[in-house]
Amino acid sequence: MRAVTIQEFGDPSGMVVSNLPTPVPEPGQVVIENEAIGVGGVDAVIRRGTLGDWGFSTGLVPGSEVAGTVTAVGAGVDGSWVGRRVWAFTGTSGGYVEQAVARVDDAVELPAGLSATDAVTLGSSAPVAHFALAHAHLAPGESVLVRGAAGSIGIAAVELAVRGGASAVAVTTSSAERGDRLRELGATHVLDRSGGGGSAAPAAYDVIVDIVGGAGTPEFIDRLAPNGRMIAVGAIAGMPPADFGGRLLAAFQQSRTFGTLSLDSVPAPALAAVRAEQLAAAARGELHAVVHDVLPLDQAAEAHRQMDAGTVFGRIVLVP
Ligand SMILES: NC(=O)c1ccc[n+]([C@@H]2O[C@H](COP(=O)([O-])OP(=O)(O)OC[C@H]3O[C@@H](n4cnc5c(N)ncnc54)[C@H](OP(=O)(O)O)[C@@H]3O)[C@@H](O)[C@H]2O)c1
Repeated sequence: MRAVTIQEFGDPSGMVVSNLPTPVPEPGQVVIENEAIGVGGVDAVIRRGTLGDWGFSTGLVPGSEVAGTVTAVGAGVDGSWVGRRVWAFTGTSGGYVEQAVARVDDAVELPAGLSATDAVTLGSSAPVAHFALAHAHLAPGESVLVRGAAGSIGIAAVELAVRGGASAVAVTTSSAERGDRLRELGATHVLDRSGGGGSAAPAAYDVIVDIVGGAGTPEFIDRLAPNGRMIAVGAIAGMPPADFGGRLLAAFQQSRTFGTLSLDSVPAPALAAVRAEQLAAAARGELHAVVHDVLPLDQAAEAHRQMDAGTVFGRIVLVP
């Protein structure tokens, strides 16, 4: 089968179209004939190799979420899965392939009326946003800032914060046009990447969902209101300065909190339940999948070039 593999970490050109054997499911696994493959921000982070050695080696198939039809099941998996349309997390077995393999525990059936393209736009992103806001104990009437809101996690965080009754939902983004689109999705204030602009925006926030990290982290810690909570879900701009915790201690009397949220630490039944509910909400039109572009699998490198150029709003989806 056709697959995309990383032959060299760094530039997108290091990803090449390859031929791999058709997967055979191991016990507990399903094989999925892909209809759509999500191109996640994390795929670009891994491909760039900017976060150091994650233990990946060349030959790796990038991509961690797919949607399509189950064609085969491994030992111990109910045969009734065959023929069902599912979203699935493929983890390190990779998603940029014609036929993906996933643990059946990481697959969820698609609700009627939801496209595979929309499923891979929301399947990981929306749960990250949900559990970040839950980890922050967002309460109705509190203010929220989503830092790095133009990606699929940030867009979901905006919509979910609005649904959660936030009094204000500010976003950071690098372009006015993206700001307008984020307003359409519920953002009340649009800031630039450094948190500037948005003259009527709150001076401080009860909750900050941070997808960016990097050198700007301490300045955003300073924007937490008393008892405010910042939850880091990504580090697109790299790790924060090593001494960023000093900013929290310097504002000791403000009782601020910094935390992280990874889906890896969410109990599997809770994750599956939230994901199924979110995909159903998307099928009902209550949650929006923002698809930037749909490209053939062979153009995975082009998808990553667009990610590196910062021109993607929402998510790029690959189709085999
Ligand atoms: N916590 C979890 O369980 C989990 C799961 C999956 C992924 N992730 C993480 O989530 C991140 C990807 O999320 P995503 O796909 O939503 O994001 P994304 O699409 O990669 O980026 C979101 C936005 O951030 C802004 N941005 C990019 N680089 C920036 C920089 N250097 N400084 C400031 N802003 C920058 C860009 O918007 P503007 O140009 O408009 O500013 C971009 O559109 C990765 O770090 C990944 O590891 C976490």
